[in-house]
Amino acid sequence: MNDRRYVVGITGASGVVMGYRLVQQLLKKGYKVDLVITHAGRRVLKDEMGLSQVEEHSNLVLHDIDNIGASIASGSVKTDGMIIMPCSMGTLAGIANGISSNLMQRAADVTIKEGRRLILVPRETPLSLIHIKNLLHAAQAGAVIIPPVPAFYTQPSTIDDVINFAVGKVLDVLQIEHELYPRYGDN
Ligand SMILES: Cc1cc2nc3c(=O)[nH]c(=O)nc-3n(C[C@H](O)[C@H](O)[C@H](O)COP(=O)(O)O)c2cc1C
Repeated sequence: MNDRRYVVGITGASGVVMGYRLVQQLLKKGYKVDLVITHAGRRVLKDEMGLSQVEEHSNLVLHDIDNIGASIASGSVKTDGMIIMPCSMGTLAGIANGISSNLMQRAADVTIKEGRRLILVPRETPLSLIHIKNLLHAAQAGAVIIPPVPAFYTQPSTIDDVINFAVGKVLDVLQIEHELYPRYGDN
């Protein structure tokens, strides 16, 4: 039995497939996942993956982004951390400034205040000074920032390789074993 529980957020930044892959990996490992998707995230899931619904799973709870009374909005509900992948600049701004205007921002706020692991995978380029300052604020509050930047020492040959590398880097920080990409020197 594996009773670790992670909150995963998918926003309306490009690369929603990375967040979707992360959810699949966590479920495959036997962890519980609380998933929250912003309205823009749903739009991009449709645009980039043709997905209008998330596949059901017994360990997956899909929360309504507007349900500010959901379990993950309360610090009293224990989780093992939260990952927002991909994280839009809008959601980053909300988190970095403590706005908590929807369930995802509130859950991230809770994750920070409870001293739990918060991982942000920001997806934007180029970055403006506003984005950089918000990333700094989030990092100063304890968030781990993992831009989905590909490595080339792994010799990626497919988009899947690039996605798996980004997801693998998140799992590394969570100290979850995986074989999503070859370690330096192993390939
Ligand atoms: C196809 C598509 C791709 C987008 N890609 C990005 C992106 O990579 N980064 C970003 O910050 N915003 C991106 N946006 C804009 C966000 O979706 C928009 O700012 C939205 O308000 C973010 O809301 P959310 O943070 O609640 O998901 C994209 C929008 C669309 C429709």
